[in-house]
Amino acid sequence: MKMISRRDFLKASAVVGATAAMTACGGSSSTSTAASSVAASSAAASSAAATNGSANIGVCIYQFADNFMTLYRSDLEEYLKDMGYSVTIMDGKNDQNTQTEQINTFLQQGVDVLVINPVQTTSAQTIVDTVKPSETPIVFINREPDKSVLDSYADKCCYVGADARQSGTYQGELILETETQGDINGDGKITYIMCKGDPENIDAQYRTEYSIKALTDAGKEVECLYEYLDNWDQTTAQQDVANALSQYGDKIEVVFCNNDAMALGALQSIQQANRTVGKDIYLVGVDALAEAVQDVLDGNMTGTVLNDDVGQATAAAEATKLYVEGSKVEQYYWVDYVKVTKDNASEYVK
Ligand code: BGC
Repeated sequence: MKMISRRDFLKASAVVGATAAMTACGGSSSTSTAASSVAASSAAASSAAATNGSANIGVCIYQFADNFMTLYRSDLEEYLKDMGYSVTIMDGKNDQNTQTEQINTFLQQGVDVLVINPVQTTSAQTIVDTVKPSETPIVFINREPDKSVLDSYADKCCYVGADARQSGTYQGELILETETQGDINGDGKITYIMCKGDPENIDAQYRTEYSIKALTDAGKEVECLYEYLDNWDQTTAQQDVANALSQYGDKIEVVFCNNDAMALGALQSIQQANRTVGKDIYLVGVDALAEAVQDVLDGNMTGTVLNDDVGQATAAAEATKLYVEGSKVEQYYWVDYVKVTKDNASEYVK
């Protein structure tokens, strides 16, 4: 009998589930005062698009060369196309100026909805100010802008994401659930290094903070040897962890990584230094990338946290659809993280 992976199962059921969940929050069409003729004509265009099931969607991804966003992007493209939309996806190449030009081009082409994964969340307000005159709705994804940014374009702008505090807490819990509760050498404290993602990204900030908070909330003493700025990147983390292992040696009991790409880099260096995860060091990441889930199953990683690309892409596609149809859209759509350990990892094989 062929085993269906949890990801395939989620993919198969996601669109149906999210439709039900989101129509429950939406329903009535948005009320806007003083509708200008531009608004009226774009509303007419939107409802025409909704009737014939077609609309043009412009998607801006901060960088194609990002493992997690690659999964997310292909899910999103699939769901939007399944809805009958024509989809164009641009690679911001991790450069805000490049992305801003792409947004301007989409506006000139008159896309119906923009889905934006900003390069810099600090530029989200400028993005909104640029888009606002055209009244094109924006679905921000993955990199959470300030609430004030969403408020400044109320009814035309929302955020779809996951609460990164939850992923950080789960990482700390994964360490507390180990045999030594993170204190391998039994000296009464958990000594760790942290590999961090892009410092202006709230996911990186919260995961760094809440993974450690889970330990201290449980009454544990902690010592941070170093926090490395690895920008979500495997190779950078690999080099930094190699240096850390030669500098701090056995003192390092836990390697926290804000994402799995960096955890995979860390693992290469851990193995090269002849250290053994689960025995003399612990390693946790976030995302549940295929390779990382396999490493959890094989005991090469202590655990990871599912960053649900399927759930988030589904919600983003559904929010897009609500905008196309002129229905009410909530300001936030949150998708849960899930803790992945050796016990349940087989459910998350992709
Ligand atoms: C993911 C990272 C990814 C980042 C991109 C995070 O939610 O965990 O793997 O690099 O999003 O913004």
